[in-house]
Amino acid sequence: LAVPIPGGDNEPAFQGPTTFHLIQISSFANSTWAQNQGSGWLGDLQIHGWDSESGTAIFLKPWSKGNLSDEEVTELVEIFRVYLIGFLRVVQDHVSEFQLTCECRPL
Ligand SMILES: *[C@@H]1O[C@H](CO)[C@@H](O)[C@H](O)[C@H]1NC(C)=O
Ligand SMILES: *[C@@H]1O[C@H](CO)[C@@H](O)[C@H](O)[C@H]1NC(C)=O
Repeated sequence: LAVPIPGGDNEPAFQGPTTFHLIQISSFANSTWAQNQGSGWLGDLQIHGWDSESGTAIFLKPWSKGNLSDEEVTELVEIFRVYLIGFLRVVQDHVSEFQLTCECRPL
C-alpha cells in the first residue's frame, strides 16, 4: 500500500520509514454476541477504521486509499468483511474446544 506522505500545514510530516499495520480486536461477550473492531495505522497515525455494523472500512484521510483504484478498494474491503465474519463464526463454533469460557470477576 503506497500512501502519499502528507507534508502540509495540517498534517505532520513523517520522518524516515513508516510502518503500516492493521489492528483487529474481536470481542466475545457471551455465546451469541461478538463484534470486530479494526483499524489501520501508518506509524502512530490512524488512517483506517472499521464499521462493524455495516461491515465496511472507514477512510479517515483523503489519501487513506493510497494509490488503489475504487475497484481494488472494494475488493479488499470485501475480503476483510468475509474474513472478519468468518473469524467470529469459527471462534464461536469452537469456543468449547478452545476452553475460552471463563467466569470473569473484577479483582
Ligand atoms: C450477550 O451480550 C450482549 C452484549 O453485552 C448483550 O446485549 C446480550 O444481552 C447478551 N446475551 C445473553 C444471552 O447473555
Ligand atoms: C501503487 O504504487 C506502487 C508503488 O509505486 C506500485 O508498485 C503499484 O503498482 C501501484 N498500484 C496501482 C494500483 O497503481
